[in-house]
Amino acid sequence: MKRYFIHTFGCQMNVNDSLRMSEVLAKMSYEPTPVPDNADLIILNTCAIREKAEDKMLSALGRYKPVKASRGALIGVGGCVAQQEKDKLLKKVPYLDFVFGPDNIAKLPDIIGRVSEDRARVVEAAFVHSEEYVFPRADPETSRGKVTEFVTVMKGCDNVCSFCVVPHTRGREVSRAFPDVLVEVADLAKVGVREVTLIGQNVNSYAGGISFAQLLLRTAEVPGIERVRFTTSHPHDLSDELIEAFRTQPKIAPHFHLPVQCGSDRILKMMRRDYTVVQYLERLEKLRAARPGIAVTTDIIVGFPGETEEEFEMTMKLTEQVRYDNQFSFVFSPRPKTGAALRENEWGPVPHEVKIARLERLQKLQRKISGEITAALVGSEVEVLVEGHSRYDATKRFGRTPENRTVNFDGDAPAGAIVKVKVERATPNQLAGNQVSVLSLPTVEPLPVAPAASPFHVVAEA
Ligand code: SAH
Ligand code: SF4
Ligand code: F3S
Repeated sequence: MKRYFIHTFGCQMNVNDSLRMSEVLAKMSYEPTPVPDNADLIILNTCAIREKAEDKMLSALGRYKPVKASRGALIGVGGCVAQQEKDKLLKKVPYLDFVFGPDNIAKLPDIIGRVSEDRARVVEAAFVHSEEYVFPRADPETSRGKVTEFVTVMKGCDNVCSFCVVPHTRGREVSRAFPDVLVEVADLAKVGVREVTLIGQNVNSYAGGISFAQLLLRTAEVPGIERVRFTTSHPHDLSDELIEAFRTQPKIAPHFHLPVQCGSDRILKMMRRDYTVVQYLERLEKLRAARPGIAVTTDIIVGFPGETEEEFEMTMKLTEQVRYDNQFSFVFSPRPKTGAALRENEWGPVPHEVKIARLERLQKLQRKISGEITAALVGSEVEVLVEGHSRYDATKRFGRTPENRTVNFDGDAPAGAIVKVKVERATPNQLAGNQVSVLSLPTVEPLPVAPAASPFHVVAEA
């Protein structure tokens, strides 16, 4: 049997695509290997969201070059950089065998055939038209033993945020028909999955036959499913109907990732985000009223072209005002062909040191807020869905609260159980404590407790 190794960068969409690749490869009699050194096929599933992500891909490629030299392994690049660079990537990296875009995963057998039999170098980076796009159905067996899974509900993005490369690398929005989504969720529940996260770059504009709010409600009704999550949403699509779903269906987990990007209306306009800070806050207030205690997280870009010190202070102020549970913040990185990159000089690039200094200030503030929020939980009891044992300490269990807070704890519950944990300690990003009771047991005979991590051959890196 031949062996493959997939190195995954980027978002959950890529992690899911890597799983689909492994399924295609399994049908071609390839088996996964945990290390690249003995692989016959190495695939990098890449991310183009920031320059750093691309640099990481190039340095990983360099690490895999000797495997090709020593044992003739084939090396391919998929994902968003592949879509963006296409044949240019083959020119740039002479030892690369093939390049394939995210819409071309099903073509892997053909691509690998052409590369190995005809010794050709292959590029497949066409987008599949909306009407013809078929969402790859996950094989539920690959999820047996897992407690939480991701289900793709749409691909692409029709927004035009001026900083963002995703519309260029993932194409137009295509929604997956809702019966398909529900069948996949039901199949996952049958093998023991108790939590699903519906994913897409812009899930709120879902249009697969019912509204996104209805899709969440229907998913929550699938027998065996205890928690429903989703990611990612654009604030302009946070509808009243969705807020209502949070009020009425407790299985929709109380966590909302709502990327705001910055706290200045002028910059938001240049980002083409089409909401104001006040409108964002109004939506959020309504959501918090419908679901008290809901955890809110966000994404922030600092140092967008033209951002003044004063405008950055507005982001700091917004952060204090909202008191996010967590924030993912980045320095602006100009991406090829995007509006903000094309106009960066006109708007005035923010010097690198200034960007970094702002990022550090913001992250320090957020750590303080996150720390205060989690410290207030010490002494309380939280509900945890057990995912496996802790990655750092096999004697401890790992799971997450409905608010998506990670918890490492002493206890004996099997993966898939829902338990009460008394919180003894907290850091800004983690809780620790002791199991006090078991609320419910897994629906399917549990497998031996394993580390709560993604499959070993799909290594994800942000
Ligand atoms: N679809 C999601 C975003 C996906 S990208 C949404 O609209 O919310 C994840 C995050 O990366 C974005 O929210 C943004 O904060 C950041 N990001 C995207 N492009 C970037 C760029 N050019 N420079 C820096 N950060 C960027
Ligand atoms: Fe990018 Fe904006 Fe689409 Fe998110 S909504 S993927 S930031 S274009
Ligand atoms: Fe995801 Fe990165 Fe592509 S964030 S959609 S893998 S550019």
